[in-house]
Amino acid sequence: MSHSEKYTPNPDRYNNSEGFQHCGKSGLKLPRLSLGLWHNFGDVDDKEEAVKMLKHAFDNGITHFDLANNYGTPFGSAEKNFGKTLKENFAPYRDELIISTKAGHDMWPGPYGDGGSRKYLIASLEQSLKRMKLDYVDVFYSHRYDPNTPIEETMGALSHMVKQGKALYVGISKYPEDKAREAYRILKENGTPCLIFQGRYSIFSREIEQEVLPLAKENGVGFIGFSPLAQGLLSDKYLNGIPENSRAAHSYGFLQANQITTEVVSRIIKLNDIALQRSQTLAQMALAWCFHQPDVNSVIIGTSSVKQLQDNINALKNLSFTDEELWRIGELG
Ligand SMILES: NC(=O)c1ccc[n+]([C@@H]2O[C@H](COP(=O)([O-])OP(=O)(O)OC[C@H]3O[C@@H](n4cnc5c(N)ncnc54)[C@H](OP(=O)(O)O)[C@@H]3O)[C@@H](O)[C@H]2O)c1
Repeated sequence: MSHSEKYTPNPDRYNNSEGFQHCGKSGLKLPRLSLGLWHNFGDVDDKEEAVKMLKHAFDNGITHFDLANNYGTPFGSAEKNFGKTLKENFAPYRDELIISTKAGHDMWPGPYGDGGSRKYLIASLEQSLKRMKLDYVDVFYSHRYDPNTPIEETMGALSHMVKQGKALYVGISKYPEDKAREAYRILKENGTPCLIFQGRYSIFSREIEQEVLPLAKENGVGFIGFSPLAQGLLSDKYLNGIPENSRAAHSYGFLQANQITTEVVSRIIKLNDIALQRSQTLAQMALAWCFHQPDVNSVIIGTSSVKQLQDNINALKNLSFTDEELWRIGELG
């Protein structure tokens, strides 16, 4: 499809709509796979491929796009580029989309561009709405817990956004368990219950299974996992070194080459064997594996090409695991 041609989404995009899950006890359903724009959608990335990925995602029932104020290189560029694509292609479909953004990490200079203050969060949401050319986001997250701001202030800012109509729901990301408990209580008292907890989850990062997941369930809060492929480690791409153009090869990527040790590669090789025995790619198995925990509502994938995106979508064809497979995978995590 040429750039200027009008985009017509796939009419069969919801054929597999049993793939949608209620987010916690809320009425909002999320697709099993959500697409994150942390990497691959900034000004340093291939913009044409980025637009193709967004269309391909939506054409396959991926209705949820996850952003943050500082996504993309430079900061803000993922929201800006996404806003452009939204306006040019998705404007008639806004009500079919769940768009999330966040603030909490370093964004602009000075004392008001980082952390959990009311000043930062509310100013940041205004900026995000401008960059994405939106009137509201579906979900706004506090991106991380800030020990130097009273949690009542951070949660108060989130509740204010909902009451203003600039965010339909709110969530928290990477909060320690005791602070998540407080956040859930305060948001409930404010009349704006927490929709969702966003945490790292993959075969290589299972910490949330201990406390975060049970606590979310107890509070009716949904769970969405990020970096389900451990930034690409859980794929076949690093089996034979670090390919050019991979996240680990880029100076601006968050995956560092020194994380790919021989010990890690030896585990990836064994996991790859298990995936092949299941007739899946390692990326597919790693994504499917996340759903062996029934309280994982969705996982946020990041892809650098339509080919990867399609590979990942095919993961949903086989989500079942034998106890033996789960045990073997667990031993390699
Ligand atoms: N709340 C938070 O603090 C937080 C933190 C991190 C992420 N997130 C969210 O989670 C999203 C996903 O994170 P992530 O990008 O780290 O996820 P990921 O799925 O673990 O890693 C994505 C990377 O894996 C590689 N990949 C993906 N599919 C592949 C396939 N089929 N075969 C081979 N390689 C494949 C690609 O790497 P190459 O680029 O090398 O091709 C891609 O960029 C982010 O965009 C963001 O929305 C949130």
